[in-house]
Amino acid sequence: MAATGSAVGLGNIWKFPYIAGENGGGAFVLIYLVCIFLIGVPIMMAEVMLGRRGRRNPVDSMKHLAEETGHSPLWKFLGWIGVTAGFLILSYYSVIAGWAISYVFTTASGAFTGANAALVGNHFDELTQSPFTLIFWHSIFMLITMLVVARGIEGGIEKAVRFLIPSLFVLIIVMVFYAMTTSGFAEGVRFMFSSDFSKISTEGVLKAMGQAFFTLSIGMGAIMVYGAYLPKDISIAKASFSIAIADTAVAVLAGVAIFPIVFANGLEAGSGPGLIFVTLPLAFGNMAFGAFFGTLFFILLVFAAWSSSISLIEPAVAWVIENKGVSRVKASIALGFFTWFIGLGTVFSFNEWSNSTLFGKTFFDLLDYLTSNIMLPLGGVLMAIFAGWLMKKSASHDELAVSKRAYTLWRFLVRYVTPVAVLLVFLNAVGVFS
Ligand code: PHE
Repeated sequence: MAATGSAVGLGNIWKFPYIAGENGGGAFVLIYLVCIFLIGVPIMMAEVMLGRRGRRNPVDSMKHLAEETGHSPLWKFLGWIGVTAGFLILSYYSVIAGWAISYVFTTASGAFTGANAALVGNHFDELTQSPFTLIFWHSIFMLITMLVVARGIEGGIEKAVRFLIPSLFVLIIVMVFYAMTTSGFAEGVRFMFSSDFSKISTEGVLKAMGQAFFTLSIGMGAIMVYGAYLPKDISIAKASFSIAIADTAVAVLAGVAIFPIVFANGLEAGSGPGLIFVTLPLAFGNMAFGAFFGTLFFILLVFAAWSSSISLIEPAVAWVIENKGVSRVKASIALGFFTWFIGLGTVFSFNEWSNSTLFGKTFFDLLDYLTSNIMLPLGGVLMAIFAGWLMKKSASHDELAVSKRAYTLWRFLVRYVTPVAVLLVFLNAVGVFS
């Protein structure tokens, strides 16, 4: 349950629709789905397994597992890539989650009732143009994240996730029904599911793969840490599959709810990170009981982001506690403050620094690109290589406890398919094949 809470978050509802929109829709969605099941699920199984055998924070788990099997302790650097990726992601994740908190209040105030595209667009621009407001909400989100992390993550999350994910699911279905009543439904669905491969760039393929890692929370140790808390009698394969299915369902349905609104209102599918913040309020503004559903929706979105943000920072906090002899509270305060500070770069990316770019990317874009498209796939593949090539066959067979056929398939996927696929996507993105 906690891992599902980690997986389902802003990645599904905010990020998936906006990058699918920027990368032409259908072909992107198809590549993303292939990556989830061919690369994502096997790597998730590997990551949970490494966590359950390592039973420590990702850095020390990797070191321990490497030494145990007679390999170099330098494998701990794999843990380091993950820990770094985690708090870099959290630094911007918190800023976006802050937008969602602010939308809870705006929607509840009835400000979107009867709104048109211009009004919601203006509201979003006004919000993102104000560094002060963004810092305020970013601070609130970091505060609530670190509050849970400081108290220790067991217990509460699982209970919360148990009602959170189903409720979120129901509300997204409500949105899909609303989308069906708009004039853009057919076009929206076509946009999502008709694969025109001429619309996707080599970089788009990399982004689809990066999104698969991001949305499943794999490649950085979040799932490894939860694996470390996983009892021995739980099936890793079943858990990984059901997480992937729930996660994919939320993302795809979010897309089906959002794109019809985009087309019905003459909006731009590729308008970027603001996409859900300018489409969903339009829906809430024009449907029955919209202010109620809208407020509830943004509250659930904040909770979903919350159950993900905790897992982004937990590997770093666990490492500090286990290595520096600092209390959980102190570790949380220090790391939380550091993450908050880096988040200011993302805040300014939308206003003061929106014109300062490197390789055509703002600080936020760069951070997102580096973590999702490079660090997570790299971390994930190294985990697959470790689990597939370095770990003893008897050990992984024992951990996974699946049928012989399923085990053979998994091992083939982590040993050959995932490393080769990720390598090809990397080479393709830097232009080797074009
Ligand atoms: N999977 C989360 C989401 O979709 C984000 C995340 C990434 C969380 C990596 C933990 C680790 O929102």
